[in-house]
Amino acid sequence: MNPPLAALPQPAGSPYFQYRNSVLYAEDVPLDHLAALLGTPLYVYSRAALKGAWNTYRSAIGPHKVLVCYGMKANSNLAVLKEFVRLGAGFDIVSGGELERALAVGADPARIVFSGVGKQAWEMRAALEAGVKSFNVESEAELRRLSDVASHMGRVAPVSLRVNPDVDPQTHPYISTGLKENKFGIAIGQARDAYRLAHALPGLRIAGVDCHIGSQLTDISPYLDALDKLLDLIDALAADGIRIGHLDLGGGLGIRYSNETPPSPRHLLAPVLDRLRARGLDHLELVLEPGRSLIGNAGVLLTTVQYLKHGEARNFAIVDAAMNDLLRPALYEAWQGVLPVRPRPGAKACNPYDLVGPVCESADWLARGRVLDLQQGDVLAIESAGAYGMTMASNYNTRGRPAEVMVDDGRFYLVRQRETPRDLYRGESTLP
Ligand code: LLP
Repeated sequence: MNPPLAALPQPAGSPYFQYRNSVLYAEDVPLDHLAALLGTPLYVYSRAALKGAWNTYRSAIGPHKVLVCYGMKANSNLAVLKEFVRLGAGFDIVSGGELERALAVGADPARIVFSGVGKQAWEMRAALEAGVKSFNVESEAELRRLSDVASHMGRVAPVSLRVNPDVDPQTHPYISTGLKENKFGIAIGQARDAYRLAHALPGLRIAGVDCHIGSQLTDISPYLDALDKLLDLIDALAADGIRIGHLDLGGGLGIRYSNETPPSPRHLLAPVLDRLRARGLDHLELVLEPGRSLIGNAGVLLTTVQYLKHGEARNFAIVDAAMNDLLRPALYEAWQGVLPVRPRPGAKACNPYDLVGPVCESADWLARGRVLDLQQGDVLAIESAGAYGMTMASNYNTRGRPAEVMVDDGRFYLVRQRETPRDLYRGESTLP
């Protein structure tokens, strides 16, 4: 059989990362220039791509009151957060650490919702101190702890219950959260009792209803199934004398990694707002918690080929990025596009390569079976790496995490320095 031909590279995800004169650019900055100047692995973000993604939400909203709380676990670099503050976003946080980051860039606490299944007392105190909009509470035990913490501080905590509506979001099992076998949320059948408890506890004020059913959703029907269940619950609560101020539908809108055609925010919001109107509930504020769809395709990870190794069964391109820098392929067998930053002209018969890193694990791969015309020293861009890239990076094998750069038109800013080994053992000590 003839070896396959290397196809002309086609950026999949973003119009902000495109070829010009056979060099891949981020906006007006050539990526080979950034790699040469700052080294690899290197995360590169596009400010315009981030703003473009934000505008897909803004333009879908219309007159209805909608608060978009960026799910900052997707990418919590301060430069990224600051852009979202400037654009008027709120934040969805899941830890005391994320709260500190949000406050460090001047986020308005009244636009922060605090999600997460395991909030500790110190995190509750910090969020109460700051004055967050709502705690998305996930169990009766958490309701009781939050009420105690707030009462001790002489405060009243605003709460939404994260309801688990038991709908199948049809996504990877590790990022599916709204099924009854998942650890998340309060089962829809128990939610009414939990609201009665919240209503009775002295340190709490009921603010809303919340759900988040999963991530990388490419169809809106699971959202609408969940919404219907939540609207029934809101009616039932009204019968119990419990009034809700906002409805939080979580995050989860998918992005294009290869050939997906995920719904746009407009596709999601139009039927959601229709249903609110049809049920006479259009006074409810709508809250969304998108992460990936705001930043996923605003970033790439640059990496350099160190060695080519033609084995008996497979061909390996050993690159300088690894599973510690970008975990999604190893953890979810995720597919992300790989583009040569300077493709060689002309289609050429090539080997399909597995892109692997230097980490001592067979799970350390970034892409498999990609037909690429490669040579040692080539710089590659791994696409759609803006979300859940750097935030899931680790220091395994005492590898410093990559530097991060934000491009803005023809300029670029180093927004996080590369870690050195010394950074990694700072805080450690030996016995006398
Ligand atoms: N709200 C809550 C409560 C969440 O748990 C999440 C994500 C979001 C919002 C934002 O979801 P998004 O819009 O980004 O889908 N590491 C995985 C994704 C894990 C998502 C966890 N929760 C990945 O790389 O695919």
